[in-house]
Amino acid sequence: MSKFDWFYDEVRQVGTDFTNMEQVKKYDSNMSDRSGEVKKLISVLKLDGSQTVLEIGTGTGSIAVGLASACKHFYAIDVSKTMLEYASEKARLHEVDNITFNHGGFLTYQHIKEPIHRIISHFALHHLPDFWKSIAIQRMYDQLEVGGVLYLQDVVYSFPVRNYEESIDSWIEDMTRNGSSFQEAEWCAHVRDEYSTFGWILEGMLRNSGFLLMSAEYSGNTYATYMCKKEN
Ligand SMILES: C[S@@+](CC[C@H](N)C(=O)[O-])C[C@H]1O[C@@H](n2cnc3c(N)ncnc32)[C@H](O)[C@@H]1O
Repeated sequence: MSKFDWFYDEVRQVGTDFTNMEQVKKYDSNMSDRSGEVKKLISVLKLDGSQTVLEIGTGTGSIAVGLASACKHFYAIDVSKTMLEYASEKARLHEVDNITFNHGGFLTYQHIKEPIHRIISHFALHHLPDFWKSIAIQRMYDQLEVGGVLYLQDVVYSFPVRNYEESIDSWIEDMTRNGSSFQEAEWCAHVRDEYSTFGWILEGMLRNSGFLLMSAEYSGNTYATYMCKKEN
């Protein structure tokens, strides 16, 4: 606990307001079917029903609900209580009963139950400014058991810094032209109001926290997936 009042308020929404149920429903209907991702996660994370998994920024719970049956227990956390309400209803409808939903985030959640074998997070870390991303990554490292794996996917930039203008413009053009269910204004708001950063910055943060970077996959200059291991 620090002496002064400088700690980041991670519950305050930046960009899209995920405390608004209409926004939450819209987000869920905009996201395509996640079953391919779930299948991939089971394979790359080597889930065999004996692992405890923590998902940070679970959102509408699609990944959690898909993955839970391959896990011993699944903890799903989010800073939006509206998201948690929506996700737990999804779990109930799918008769999934090994997910614990907790209100908390990257900077405040403290896991006090059994050791965590895997941490996953999709499209959530960009809600934090870079200083706080580093703290979040260090906290994920500290909460994983030795040998545990972090799987992190987000909007991450991998174009050269000096090409930022044409790279962002052509990304938004591609997304809107190719029938993305998100609108141009939403992509613009992502870049302007949220905190997606460069891959070389994130890789530095991951290594600096102690993680072994097992793989870093970049796609289309604007997405990245990292798999990292806590070795000791
Ligand atoms: C774009 S949604 C992604 C949801 C889900 N992971 C997915 O892939 O569909 C971002 C989620 O991150 C949550 N979030 C924002 N800041 C967070 C924080 N500091 N800690 C945990 N979750 C956060 C939001 O409430 C929202 O549910």
